[in-house]
Amino acid sequence: MAIQAETKQRIIARAMSIREKAYAPYSKYRVGASLLTESGDIFDGVNVENAVYSMTVCAERNAVFQAVTHGQKTFQAIAVATDNGGSPCGACRQVMTEFGPDMLVIMLDAKGEIVLETTARELLPDAFGPKDLETG
Ligand code: THU
Repeated sequence: MAIQAETKQRIIARAMSIREKAYAPYSKYRVGASLLTESGDIFDGVNVENAVYSMTVCAERNAVFQAVTHGQKTFQAIAVATDNGGSPCGACRQVMTEFGPDMLVIMLDAKGEIVLETTARELLPDAFGPKDLETG
């Protein structure tokens, strides 16, 4: 199901705006993500870094975890805002795929321009998923 242009603009604007809340004192690479659920609700996330660098959590995963915490597990789209339209990391691709392989992934640069629009499935083809744990 294609998302409405107005809704798309809404998650783009939110990703751009929430990006300002990113906690990225070490990399200085701020990321904001805005996730549209099946029911039309929107959950945001930012990257949160740590002095123990490996404890960092990405913006996309924070947005997904927020949604799941609120009982929503089916997603239509995620807008991801960075400086340069950078692509979601492998861990975030895996987490997005768990809940919505067909969700739209929109990557934005610092001006809010769409650098790439694709799906979680295209970002992580042949992914390991819930089906792989079904037995018998
Ligand atoms: N980062 C994200 O938030 N999402 C990604 O998909 C890629 C990387 C963050 C993690 C870290 O805070 C910074 O960007 C540089 O890696």
